[in-house]
Amino acid sequence: MARLVTEWVNVTGDISIIARESGEVWFHTPRGTKENVDPFATPMTGVGAMGSTVGLLDGAINLGFAGIEKRLARPEPTLAGYIVALVGAYHTSVDTPRNLRRAASRFNELARPEVAAYLEERAREETGHDRLALKDLRALGVPGERLVANFIPEGIKPLCKRFDDLCVEDYPIGCIGYSYCLERIAALKQETDIEKVQALCPDGVDATRFLRSHSSLGSEATHVEETIEFVASLPANDRIRVVQETYESALILAEGYNHELLKSEAEMLEELQQAVGEALPYRLSSYPSHGEKRGARPAA
Ligand SMILES: [Fe+2]
Ligand SMILES: [Fe+2]
Repeated sequence: MARLVTEWVNVTGDISIIARESGEVWFHTPRGTKENVDPFATPMTGVGAMGSTVGLLDGAINLGFAGIEKRLARPEPTLAGYIVALVGAYHTSVDTPRNLRRAASRFNELARPEVAAYLEERAREETGHDRLALKDLRALGVPGERLVANFIPEGIKPLCKRFDDLCVEDYPIGCIGYSYCLERIAALKQETDIEKVQALCPDGVDATRFLRSHSSLGSEATHVEETIEFVASLPANDRIRVVQETYESALILAEGYNHELLKSEAEMLEELQQAVGEALPYRLSSYPSHGEKRGARPAA
């Protein structure tokens, strides 16, 4: 019987993720002694397998979020928070096809047509997703175009910058790690999460197009599966880089989302109204304790 694949990646100075094809994952602090040489101290060079690659990728996301676990905002969802999340969803989607095509053309130059083809396919699939967020904003009676033109939520800016930077690198393989991080987190959203948002919306308004398509009900689950399969097929150096970037993106995403979620509903509403230059058609929701920090989970 063939031996099960074991993969490992050092993601920070002192933590490596080790994953077996059988599904086991653990975090490892490299410790080499004379008697006992650490087998994970040198980078992996072997082939990947879906079972171990997904362990590394998801391990990287978990590790990225672990740092803010104690500070994690757990707000009650509000409409203002959801509108902010849709603006964030727009900004993290609008340049995705262009960025991915740019990275794809670089891989064509590097004689890596299989990576280029994967990125081009992703670019096609992601086309038009920014429009979904705009339609949702419009459905809520918000001037979507004006809002997104004047407002990028503070916590979303570093995330957009990261993706822009990754896609113009000389060897832009890290953009796959970034995309995996965002899509994997989106694919965790269940029907109940969508129902909660639907309950915030005025009667008869469907403003969950983006959320549905970026959840376990939409295409995101398939995108995640396909990405795992593709990453597992890459050479070891590429898998290492993708996992490291998944971790870096998870850190940025966790900090950024938390920054937005810690804002009060009044602060969010103020930011939105400043951006559109008029009052929004919504009042603050009347929850019992005033001054409590609230918001909605990001849509993307
Ligand atoms: Fe998308
Ligand atoms: Fe996607």
